[in-house]
Amino acid sequence: MNKTAAPGFFITTLGCQMNEHDSEKIAGLLEASGYVEVSEMAEAKFILFNTCCVRENPENKLYGRLGEVKRLKETDPGIIVAVCGCMVQQAVEREKLEQAYPYVDLIFGTHNIHRLPELLSRVEAGERVIEVWDEAKEEVEGLPTKRAHNLKAWVNITYGCDNFCSYCIVPYVRGRCRSRQADQILSEIKDLVSQGFREVTLLGQNVNAFGKDLTPPMDFADLLAEVNKIDGLWRIRFTTSHPRDVNEKMIAALAELDKVCEHLHLPLQSGSTAILRRMNRGYTADEYLRLVEKIKAAVPGISLTTDIIVGFPGETDEDFADTMRVVKEVQYDSAFTFVYSPRVGTPAAKMQDQVPEEVKRERIMHLVEVQKEISTKANQDYVGRIVEVLVEGPSKTDAQVLASRTRTNKLVHFTGPTDLIGNLVEVKIIEATPWTLYGEVVTR
Ligand code: SAH
Ligand code: SF4
Ligand code: F3S
Repeated sequence: MNKTAAPGFFITTLGCQMNEHDSEKIAGLLEASGYVEVSEMAEAKFILFNTCCVRENPENKLYGRLGEVKRLKETDPGIIVAVCGCMVQQAVEREKLEQAYPYVDLIFGTHNIHRLPELLSRVEAGERVIEVWDEAKEEVEGLPTKRAHNLKAWVNITYGCDNFCSYCIVPYVRGRCRSRQADQILSEIKDLVSQGFREVTLLGQNVNAFGKDLTPPMDFADLLAEVNKIDGLWRIRFTTSHPRDVNEKMIAALAELDKVCEHLHLPLQSGSTAILRRMNRGYTADEYLRLVEKIKAAVPGISLTTDIIVGFPGETDEDFADTMRVVKEVQYDSAFTFVYSPRVGTPAAKMQDQVPEEVKRERIMHLVEVQKEISTKANQDYVGRIVEVLVEGPSKTDAQVLASRTRTNKLVHFTGPTDLIGNLVEVKIIEATPWTLYGEVVTR
């Protein structure tokens, strides 16, 4: 088959970094099956949505986008439409798609991505294929992966989650927590480095639970120490850490391992101990604050980011005020803020005292406003400082401007020659907004 005749594929990813990374594997499998990626949905023969169901919003997005696809398929019935990811792991959503969206030709889940080539060939032969596994039968290693970047890569270390926070659907759609074997992780990273990658982000719903289920058990901090030894690798990041599983060893690893970057995403969820208990988070507001103090003392200048939910069932004005107090005390560099969204099948969805939408909206607006001020201040603290950045490529907004990141994961834009891409560069910060820093190359 010559290149122009190869059928195109187009993937829309609606979820988190895990989902993004799954899409990279799916893209790898599709390329191995003779497809090529295209930049417009309208040019694709194979259109796939990798879905998310953590809140109602991303679910609604899928249904909106499927409308567009229906029109495309009316003009070209040869198009294959597929839906995969977390949403279809829920029987209700799967059945809805199956019955009300007859133009969806293929549905597969989070546990059988590696089966795509076979499922696709059955669809190509005219069959409608729906195959979703309720649990992971095996973790398949070594899938071809078409990575979005060529400098920084995502690497799975754990799959699934055992925490069962009372609001969260993830453990139901991603399964129980399974750690990958350390030697598999290390050889994947070594291979990436040999291809020229310089930064890895270790991925898991709960990365610092890594290794508890392995025989013999292994500690997350020990994995970090092993990754840190890999020659040619410059930066190590990881997400997401659960406050409950941050131990002394992990704090020491953050402080001492030279490649481990000074950034920790540490979801707070709520600053009210009563709400945290109902969320099944396993820590009190005080314990969280003490942990943050310890981390800041061990790693000066560390950037802390978080996730916060407002309007959890039963959240009073006082509970919300507690959240605001913690936010002001910690001074997060940035925060992802969410309005509580009931998820069918989770304990919180059945709790009394659901908070009215209007109250949720007021609270999130207030939180976003206060956090924006804090983020602005945190970024302004960088002005005048010289920082080391890894230059990732041209910025999204202006091809003349380079986009780079500090070790603390701040986005820095500056002008400079494109041959700086892929290098560590010293930049002086001259201006700051809540989301971006602006700098200039330091010449010595
Ligand atoms: N494992 C990660 C990511 C989970 S999903 C973690 O524990 O941090 C990302 C964020 O979505 C969560 O941290 C939480 O803040 C938010 N979230 C999860 N379920 C939610 C729900 N039902 N409503 C609103 N936000 C939710
Ligand atoms: Fe969901 Fe909690 Fe697990 Fe995060 S730790 S994925 S919020 S159950
Ligand atoms: Fe969404 Fe699944 Fe990630 S529910 S947040 S895509 S694990």
